[in-house]
Amino acid sequence: MRPAFLKGIKLERRELADLLAADLAKVESVMARSLCSEIPYIQALNEAVLDAQGKRLRPALLVLAAGRPGDSGEDVLLCAAVVEMIHAASLLHDDVVDRGQRRRGRPTLNAEHGDGPAILMGDYVYTRALTLLVDAGLMEVFGLLARAVHRLSVGELLQLELKQRRLLDEDAYRRVIYEKTARLIEATCRAGSMLGGRPAAEVEILAAFGRELGMAFQIVDDMLDYDADALRLGKPVGRDLAEGKQTLPLLKAWAAAPAAQRARLAEMLGDGGGNRLAIIELVRELGGLEAAHGEAVRYGERSRQALAGLPASPVRAALDASIDFVVARRF
Ligand code: FPP
Ligand code: MG
Repeated sequence: MRPAFLKGIKLERRELADLLAADLAKVESVMARSLCSEIPYIQALNEAVLDAQGKRLRPALLVLAAGRPGDSGEDVLLCAAVVEMIHAASLLHDDVVDRGQRRRGRPTLNAEHGDGPAILMGDYVYTRALTLLVDAGLMEVFGLLARAVHRLSVGELLQLELKQRRLLDEDAYRRVIYEKTARLIEATCRAGSMLGGRPAAEVEILAAFGRELGMAFQIVDDMLDYDADALRLGKPVGRDLAEGKQTLPLLKAWAAAPAAQRARLAEMLGDGGGNRLAIIELVRELGGLEAAHGEAVRYGERSRQALAGLPASPVRAALDASIDFVVARRF
């Protein structure tokens, strides 16, 4: 089955899609082989992680950043598997922190097996990803990705702090999403372009592309929590409010609200976010979703501007198409 990333982007050239699909299939094999365990209990949990296929955005970006889809070297395929494994590990942990019950259209590991197995499988997948890089001698990429994962945890901790202090602060929100999401996508594009042997200037261009794309990605993710229908998204909507997370649609609605509606919003939020549907309704009425979408589009444009610094090529066109996928996605 083709990953959602490939179903979602419109590539000018059919053969490029086939080449990318072939590389992504190899990335799946690397992941399955690397995570495989002779211990049946671990293998069963492992299969649950692997079966819950995501969009495969990060490995696709890494392969494209490296520049030779269909002919990627072993290091590139390995590193593409590593970034997806890091991402999967972070979601295993995130679902424990957020008490997430469904993801990718199925129960989360914590919902099905409990927090302990989910945390430990997160550790298992994450440490396996890092050892793959060490075993391959890819120490520069190891340093780059280990630092990005460290910042992921900083982002998650900052988010917890914002939640606890009930802060409605757009700059603090942007810092959180940069740390928890955009940094890994930036590092993914940087790693791919380094492994692909691109000149230093192109590495910086692709890193900037990934950073801005990552910001757009998380803003859209946060919008979907107010917007999408749960079936298509594969996870319930309104979860951020239930967890007390102040994401951009709410922050934009807050900023735009006249005094009376602001007081109403404050009262509803103070209720522990109990009346979630009413809050979602008010956020929409106040234009919070449109304003958040506007910001996602602006980050998308910034990532497109970065990309314009690369020479034109089918790979650049594919990266460009991924911006539309990220900004317009409904799942
Ligand atoms: C999803 O955000 C979560 C992240 C982008 C990052 C989570 C990172 C960690 C828990 C740190 C991981 C650390 C290691 C060692 C692997 P979200 O909750 O906004 O999205 P969601 O709606 O998909 O849950
Ligand atoms: Mg979450």
